[in-house]
Amino acid sequence: MKINTQFAQSFIDKKNLESTLNEGVEQLHQLKSKTGKGNDFLGWMDFPNQISNTEIQNIKIAAKNFQKFETVVVIGIGGSYLGAKAMIDLFKPYFKKKSTEVLFAGQNLDEDYLNELLNYLENRDFALIVISKSGTTLEPALAFRLLLQKLTLQFGTKHIKNRVIAITDATKGALRSIVEQYQLKSFVVPNDIGGRYSVLTAVGLLPLAVAGIDIEGLIQSAKSALTELQKEQIENPAIQYAVYRNLLYQKGFSNEIMVYSKPKWSAFAEWWKQLFGESEGKEHKGIFPVSINITSDLHSLGQYIQDGERKLFETFISFSKAQTSLVVNSSKENFDQLNYLNNQSIHYINRKAEEGTMKAHYEGGVPILNIELEQLDIKTMGELIYFYEISCAISGYLLGVNPFDQPGVEAYKTQMFSLLGR
Ligand code: PA5
Repeated sequence: MKINTQFAQSFIDKKNLESTLNEGVEQLHQLKSKTGKGNDFLGWMDFPNQISNTEIQNIKIAAKNFQKFETVVVIGIGGSYLGAKAMIDLFKPYFKKKSTEVLFAGQNLDEDYLNELLNYLENRDFALIVISKSGTTLEPALAFRLLLQKLTLQFGTKHIKNRVIAITDATKGALRSIVEQYQLKSFVVPNDIGGRYSVLTAVGLLPLAVAGIDIEGLIQSAKSALTELQKEQIENPAIQYAVYRNLLYQKGFSNEIMVYSKPKWSAFAEWWKQLFGESEGKEHKGIFPVSINITSDLHSLGQYIQDGERKLFETFISFSKAQTSLVVNSSKENFDQLNYLNNQSIHYINRKAEEGTMKAHYEGGVPILNIELEQLDIKTMGELIYFYEISCAISGYLLGVNPFDQPGVEAYKTQMFSLLGR
């Protein structure tokens, strides 16, 4: 992984760069020595080294058992769902159906969604994974109630035990009581890991393993990223990314657009938005994270990015290699006038579209960071997840906020519960 900053340099204050990089090193030191804000939520930092082989094997066994079902519904919201959804979308084929399909519920209150899901599950051989650290979040609790009732009706109470796994707090919460009541298999969300930092715990690993993703490989690559990205030096890409985005923020660039060119990246962008948005948006500060998919969104939002208000910077995600190969063949008639692309791969054309977009947006006054990756595989993604987690923590510290709490999330709940008469 490399961060290319050539199209951001001219927008930042060079004098500030060196000092802020050194500040980034200090913030990383604070994280490692657990002396900064929110230091009781740093369990994710060493978790890839801490997770035991027994826990991984238990997750794999539970997943294998669930792979015998046609459909597994994962219930959760926010950090209890986005990481799994992101990785499953990235590693499932665009079109071919997998033998065990993984669906999601509990992240909306849309009656139609839930109704259609319940109808879809009629006569299907299904199981549930319910994930909630607090065990009290309304959206997943409601979806779980409906789906558990469906499961009970369809298979009988005695099958609940074999068809439901819960991931929740070790001792407290409503979900823990249900685990005890039905003697459910369960995994624990560690106390010192918040939802948005939990994808490399059972919260992400169990759904991923059910979807057939290599979770040992994922942890392995996160482990090597951990060693690299905990180095207290200014060349550390996690420090660089955190520093550049903060320097751009100081110059008034208050919206960061993650730019990706693989449609299956969309859920990963949602995971990233939660990580950075929920970690940094506090005390009336913080960069607002958004995302676009190129080239499709260049035909919708491209106009705004090129010529609209100059508060945006972009972070492009680039891959040097494609996973498959597809080359443009020549056409005798050349009706479409595309023969100038003969023998070029679609990946090459995509890269040029990406480079062209960077140049155009840069010339239009948009600072650009570019995260350059080799290819979309487990190794890259294990590293990237850890990269974003640690960089987000450093970035939050640079901004002066606690990147591990989310006090603002309660406000809508209070209003909603009062309207619902709880
Ligand atoms: O990052 C977070 O802490 C939140 O997004 C939570 O994951 C989300 O609100 C769901 O909470 P819970 O797992 O308690 O249901």
